[in-house]
Amino acid sequence: MQQKDSAKGHAPGLGLVRKLRSLRFHRDRITDAIGNRIIHPYSDFLMHDIGSGDGIPVLPGADFAATATQIRTAPLWALRTRNRLMHDGLSFTKQEAISRHAGQATAIRTAFDALSVAQKDQVMAFLDSL
Ligand code: HEM
Repeated sequence: MQQKDSAKGHAPGLGLVRKLRSLRFHRDRITDAIGNRIIHPYSDFLMHDIGSGDGIPVLPGADFAATATQIRTAPLWALRTRNRLMHDGLSFTKQEAISRHAGQATAIRTAFDALSVAQKDQVMAFLDSL
């Protein structure tokens, strides 16, 4: 709840993130199986190929070979408390992490890159509110 309220304070940034359609992947609402509570993880918890894959499939065998290039979408909640980003911890700023979004995220990252400086600041302020 507190997270929702703090996110509200950065409504323009949230609007931009929504407009970029990033929330299809960094999902802002997921129904919790326990007690039907709403949480806001900003992740779909699914595997995606954004070009940062580590070459390790989730399970051995041909059926899972394709997952070698995929990584599970990181939840963005409490992002402001972390200073080592992405699964390998090799990105030290939000901008660096966003720059590493390629593959399935290329179109959305390109749209992010095309935002004005003021709009990017709003997205960053929104991320800092999580
Ligand atoms: C402007 C839109 C987006 C922003 C601002 C954004 C932001 C971020 C940030 C800051 C991280 C690092 C989180 C952490 O390490 O704790 C991250 C990770 C990730 N995002 Fe996004 N993202 C965006 C769009 C997308 C899209 C469209 C997809 C899916 C197609 C996606 C999939 C992922 C995945 C899979 C990771 C984990 C990557 C890894 O650990 O190597 N993101 N995102």
